[in-house]
Amino acid sequence: MLKGKTALITGSTSGIGLAAAYVLAEQGINLVLHGLMDDEAGQALADEFATKYNIKTLFDGANLMLAEDISVFMAKAIEVMGSIDILVNNAGIQHTESIDTFPENKWDAIIAINLTAAFHTIQKSLAGMKTNGWGRIINIASVHGLVASLNKSAYVAAKHGIVGLTKAVALECAEHGITVNSICPGWVDTSLINNQINDIAQQKSVSFEQAKYALVNAKQPLPEMMDPRQIGEFILFLCSNSARSITGSALPMDGAWTAQ
Ligand SMILES: NC(=O)c1ccc[n+]([C@@H]2O[C@H](COP(=O)([O-])OP(=O)(O)OC[C@H]3O[C@@H](n4cnc5c(N)ncnc54)[C@H](O)[C@@H]3O)[C@@H](O)[C@H]2O)c1
Repeated sequence: MLKGKTALITGSTSGIGLAAAYVLAEQGINLVLHGLMDDEAGQALADEFATKYNIKTLFDGANLMLAEDISVFMAKAIEVMGSIDILVNNAGIQHTESIDTFPENKWDAIIAINLTAAFHTIQKSLAGMKTNGWGRIINIASVHGLVASLNKSAYVAAKHGIVGLTKAVALECAEHGITVNSICPGWVDTSLINNQINDIAQQKSVSFEQAKYALVNAKQPLPEMMDPRQIGEFILFLCSNSARSITGSALPMDGAWTAQ
C-alpha cells in the first residue's frame, strides 16, 4: 500500500529524520531528503538511499528560516517527485535559557524552523494530497507541545503551536483522506540534546553518560532514552491503513513523562 508513495522528511540528514528515512525506505517509499548539509554530501546520501532501497530520491538543503527557500524547495520536490504523499515536519532546533535573557534571534529562529516552516510545507503539499484523496502529515512535536520545562520558552511555544496547527489542519483535511497528527516524544538519543547533557556533566562534574542518565531520569519514569528509529516506526504506523482514523491527535511517546 505504501510502496511507490513519496515522503518528504524535513531535517532528515541526522537524528530522528534520518532514522525515519531508513524505516520508510525499507518499505519502498520514495524519499525527499532534506537538511543542513552541503549539496555534495546531500546528493551522496540521496544516491546511497536510491541504490540500497531501489527508490527514487531527491536531496535539498533549503534553509527553513526563509519562506522563499521553502517555496522553491517544495516546488522542486513536487515537480521532480510528482506529489508529496507523506509529509513529515521534523526539522527543529533548541536553545535553553531563562526568559530574562533569552536572545531575540534564538526566539525567531526556533519559531521559524520548529513552527512556521511546517505551515509553509503543509500549505504547499495539500493540493496534491487532495487531488489524490490520500495524504499523511506527521509533525514531530515534543512532550513540550503538551507541558513546559524550565528555560525552554521558545521551544515550548513552538511545540504547543505545532500541536495546535496539527489540530486545525486535521479538521480542514478530514474529508479528503488526509490525516494530520503530532508525535510528542520524550528524550530521544540525538545530537539535539547534547548541549543539555554537556551542561549537566559540567554542573555535576560527571561523565557524559552519567549526565545523560540524569537528564532522562529527571523527567521520565521509564529511565531510557529512545532510539530515533522507534519514532520512524511510529511514523510508519501512522501512514498505514490501520491508522486512518487517527487524526488531529497529539501522540505522546515519552516513557510516561506526561502521565504524571
Ligand atoms: N532529541 C530529542 O530528545 C527530541 C525530543 C522531542 C522532540 N524532538 C524533535 O525532533 C525533531 C528532530 O530532532 P533531532 O533530535 O533528530 O535533532 P537533530 O539535530 O539530529 O536534527 C535536526 C535536523 O533539522 C535540520 N535543521 C536544523 N535547522 C535547520 C534549518 N534552519 N533549515 C533546515 N534544516 C534545519 C538539521 O539539518 C537536521 O537534519 C525536532 O523537531 C526536535 O524538536 C527531539
